[in-house]
Amino acid sequence: MWWENEFVRARKRRLYLGGRSAEQIAERYGTPLLVYGRPQILSNYEFLLRTFSQTSRLPLRVCYAMKANPHREILKLLRRRGAWIDAVSPREVEEALRAGFSPSRILFTGTSLSSADLRRVFRIDGVTVNIDALEQLELMQELKKKEFRHNPIRVSVRWNPGIGRGFNPRAITAGARSTDGTPIKFGVEKSKVLTVLEKASSSGFLPVGLHQHLGSGWVDEDYGIVSAAVDRMIAMASRAEREGFPLEFLDFGGGFGPRYEEDQRVFPLRRYAAHITRRVAEAGLGIEAVAVEPGKYLVADAGVLLVNVEYLKESYGLLFACVNSGTYNSLPRPAIYPQARHHIVNCGRVYGGKRRPVTVAGNLCETGDVFGKEIPMPVPRRGDILAVLGAGAYGRSMASNFNLRDIPREVFSPD
Ligand code: LLP
Repeated sequence: MWWENEFVRARKRRLYLGGRSAEQIAERYGTPLLVYGRPQILSNYEFLLRTFSQTSRLPLRVCYAMKANPHREILKLLRRRGAWIDAVSPREVEEALRAGFSPSRILFTGTSLSSADLRRVFRIDGVTVNIDALEQLELMQELKKKEFRHNPIRVSVRWNPGIGRGFNPRAITAGARSTDGTPIKFGVEKSKVLTVLEKASSSGFLPVGLHQHLGSGWVDEDYGIVSAAVDRMIAMASRAEREGFPLEFLDFGGGFGPRYEEDQRVFPLRRYAAHITRRVAEAGLGIEAVAVEPGKYLVADAGVLLVNVEYLKESYGLLFACVNSGTYNSLPRPAIYPQARHHIVNCGRVYGGKRRPVTVAGNLCETGDVFGKEIPMPVPRRGDILAVLGAGAYGRSMASNFNLRDIPREVFSPD
C-alpha cells in the first residue's frame, strides 16, 4: 500500500501500528485514540538529515516546528537525536525546556506579541528571538532598556520575501496577499530588513540570522516558487553581509509536505537541499549553518486516529460511517481546509471485499464535520475500527472541545 511506512502497515488484511494490531490497541486504550509511532518519526528525521548532508558539509539545524505536535515524548525523541526547536508562543518555549531542550537550541518566532510574551521569553537566557516586524522590535527595545539592559539577546529577522506557497490559501505565509486575497501578516518586508538589523544591533541585540517561512504542504509543483524564494533569501543575506551584518545561520522555514494522498507528487527534497547548498556556496556566505523548520513532514505520517463505527447510515443514496469522534476535537484539518485529505482504512479489513464510497462522519453538529468524503473502502460494519491516517500533525495541537466533546487520549509507540 502506498501509505505503509515504518510504523503503519498492513499485514494479512489487518492494520498494524508498530508490532501490534490497531484493533488490539483500540481495545486496550479505547477510542477515539491518537497513536504516534517512534520509528516513522525517526525515519523522517534521519532522511532529512541524510538528504542535506549528501549535498553539503554545512551543518543542518532541523528545528522541529512543535506546533505540529507538542507531545512530550516526540519532543524528547527529537531532542535526543540532536534536533532544535521552532517555538511560536512562550508556552511552547517553556514546553521545549521541560522536554530538555537547551535554550540555545530554541528559535522563538512569534506574531502579534505582547510585552508580556516577550518578557517571558527574554527571561530565558540563550533563546534566539525572531523579529516579525519593525514595530515588534520597538516593543523589544523598550523592554530591553527597562528590564534587560545587560542581556545580550540573540535575534534574527523573519523577513517576507514577497512570494509564498502552501496547499491552500490559509497555509500561505509569505507574499503581500494570499491567493484568496487575505493580507499576509507575517514577516518584515524587503525594504525594511536592513533597518531592522541596524536598529536591533544599535540597541544592544545580537543579530545572528535571517529567516523565512513560505507556507505549508508543498508538493512537486511548488518547487519553482520555493526555489525562487531561496534565491531571494540568498540575495538578502549577501546584502546583509555586505552592510556589515555577518550571519550565523539562514533558516528556510518549514513547508515540505508529507504524503497525504496516493496520487500526490511529493516535493523534491533532494533537489531543494542541493539548490540551497549551491546558492550558499556561490554567494560565498560565511554562515555556520542552514536551518529548516519542518512540522508536518516529521510527524504527520507517524500518527493515526482510531475511531469506532457506531452505525452505518444510508441517505439519498449516500453511505455514511458515523464514528465516535468529531473532526474539531481530534483532527480538524478536513473541516477547516477544503483541500486537506486524509486517507482512511478499515483496521480489520484493509483491502478486499465489496468496496463502496464511504463518507466518514464525525459526531459534531457541523456539515463540514467529515474526516473523509466518499472514500472507496470495503463497506464497514458497526463496531469496526477505522484509522484516519496522517493524523500525527496538526491534529491534537489544533483540537478543541467544540460541542463539549472530549479530545481523544494520545498514546506514544504502544509496543
Ligand atoms: N515555521 C513556521 C514559522 C511556521 O509558521 C510553520 C507553520 C512551520 C515552520 C511548519 O510548517 P510545516 O513544516 O508543518 O508545513 N495548520 C496547518 C498548517 C499551518 C502551518 C503554519 N505554520 C495544517 O494543518 O496543515
